[in-house]
Amino acid sequence: MCRYQHFTPGCGSTARMTTDEITDLLTEAYIDELETVMNYLTNAIVLDGVHAEEVKESLEDDVQEELEHARRLGNRLKQLEESPPGSAAFEASQSSLQPPEDTTDVQSVIEGVLEAEDEAIETYRALHEAASEANDPVTEDVAVSILSDEEAHRTEFRGFQKEFPTD
Ligand SMILES: [Fe+2]
Ligand SMILES: [Fe+2]
Repeated sequence: MCRYQHFTPGCGSTARMTTDEITDLLTEAYIDELETVMNYLTNAIVLDGVHAEEVKESLEDDVQEELEHARRLGNRLKQLEESPPGSAAFEASQSSLQPPEDTTDVQSVIEGVLEAEDEAIETYRALHEAASEANDPVTEDVAVSILSDEEAHRTEFRGFQKEFPTD
């Protein structure tokens, strides 16, 4: 360990280093969260039918959580002396979360949510790994805390999926 890093040659390398990989992942995750907010909000509004109510309520709750994720990521970028992007940098990617033509097709929205949550989980795992390698515990903490929310969302929608067996 480098207890006296100011005096020991080579020990400065243990200091936190912000890498491009970290800021790229934070930026990508920020954009993904905002796309998720838009699609969860839209689907919470458009779905119809007796099977839709619980899913709509859950989407509505998750909109607030995903927005909070974006806020945390944006603030972390600011702390790292970067800016979160505006809409000019936006590229849509969630094709499976577009509102279904048949507004009673709750199942397709559930599948879309599961896909989005899986992707988010992958991104936060990658962010955690990059932050850990760069000795950046604050970004690690952001990644782990959001990752835990995304796993909870996935579990909830896996529960909904069980009510709609694929045939
Ligand atoms: Fe999220
Ligand atoms: Fe989520």
